[in-house]
Amino acid sequence: LRSVDGRLDVELTAALVETEVAGRIVRALSYRDRIPGPTLRVRAGDRITLRLRNGLDAPTNLHTHGLVVSPEGNSDNVFVMLDPGEAFDYDYRLGPDHPPGVFWYHPHHHGTTAEQLFGGLFGAIVVEEPEPVAATRERLLIVSDTGFDAAGNLHVATQAERMLGREGELVLVNGQLGASIEAAPGDREHWRLVNACSSRHLRLQLDGQRMSLLGIDAGRYAEPREVEEVVLAPGNRAELIVTAVEGESVLRTMPFDRGAMGMAGSPPSATTGADLVSVVVRGEPEATAQPTPPATTSAPPEPRDLRGGPVDVRRIVTLAMGMGGGMGGGPAFTIDGREFDEGRVDLAVRHGAIEEWTIVNTSPMDHPFHLHVWPMQLVEVDGEAADVVDHRDVVHVRARSTTVVRIAFEGIAGRTVFHCHILDHEDQGMMAVVEAT
Ligand code: C2O
Ligand code: CU
Ligand code: CU
Repeated sequence: LRSVDGRLDVELTAALVETEVAGRIVRALSYRDRIPGPTLRVRAGDRITLRLRNGLDAPTNLHTHGLVVSPEGNSDNVFVMLDPGEAFDYDYRLGPDHPPGVFWYHPHHHGTTAEQLFGGLFGAIVVEEPEPVAATRERLLIVSDTGFDAAGNLHVATQAERMLGREGELVLVNGQLGASIEAAPGDREHWRLVNACSSRHLRLQLDGQRMSLLGIDAGRYAEPREVEEVVLAPGNRAELIVTAVEGESVLRTMPFDRGAMGMAGSPPSATTGADLVSVVVRGEPEATAQPTPPATTSAPPEPRDLRGGPVDVRRIVTLAMGMGGGMGGGPAFTIDGREFDEGRVDLAVRHGAIEEWTIVNTSPMDHPFHLHVWPMQLVEVDGEAADVVDHRDVVHVRARSTTVVRIAFEGIAGRTVFHCHILDHEDQGMMAVVEAT
């Protein structure tokens, strides 16, 4: 779905549907009878009006992950909740300087975000570049995971899976298992990748092909970086240029160790790998093969470097897991010692301030840290200074490690949240409220 004259009008109905996943008819969640939901294609300065209907038997809502839009009113307001049968008219206005790239939408109802996403409720939002990235073609690859029981009903996560973060046995690309793509030698493909898994990290490799990373999330490096692999925490996106080399390759996600719970009975800590897409490169390069365009986007917006500049406020934000007082004495997932309470403002920020947040993970598990609305610039990761300008909206904080970011609370004001993007952790309390006024 593409905006016309600066407007995009969309209707989505969240519902339990019968659909085909990995060759089986199953009952899954969907916005439009298929998974993923429709891709919304817009440009900076556009307005998206979106009516969401709740056809589920539980509350839901919608979040536009990564979009730099107001978190208030009918815009990206995660405090809005729709009961079953209700509808809500969202209205998102992208500023004229909105960064291009791939973003996505998913439900954000505290307590059931992970299961609704795992069930199939997600889709991509592409904010197109003012001038397209120089490439033979563009591909959008949305990676998600899910699972079903023998009767075709969605897998219900066990307590142990909720602790670690559920990982589905099916890892899908654009809703498909075993997708394949074809290209000719020398093609320059622009890939937009989305990690739409509830809790699974992706460690992507594409042996035999050349990958050049333009940036993670909406951030863009000053120069593209040649890479052997790309690690995407849940919620992260990547923009890549793949230069096709003759032969057959497989886009794979490799095993990834995200830290152990150190508790008896917990599942193994390492995420398993999976084959995602087979890439077949053959045939003659196009007869009219032009010289390879330079590996940059046209007119890249100059990435802003906050690393050396002044800082108005420094804070420490602590991610922890402890024994909770909750029923059953399960673990508590906390930020600064507290579980999420939507009625409390945890961090009050002055609009216009530049803040430095030292995110300390005291727990034995990794936690990908996500802030809505305002991108975070990496300053230091696990004791090492960031060597390039790198802006993200999800930063991965390793077990028992520290990541330092800087945030410019400029442009947009309002109240929203930050949280762990292992959505099972968010659902169990690892979320807090920030307000910029
Ligand atoms: Cu992708 Cu607060 O979420
Ligand atoms: Cu988000
Ligand atoms: Cu977490």
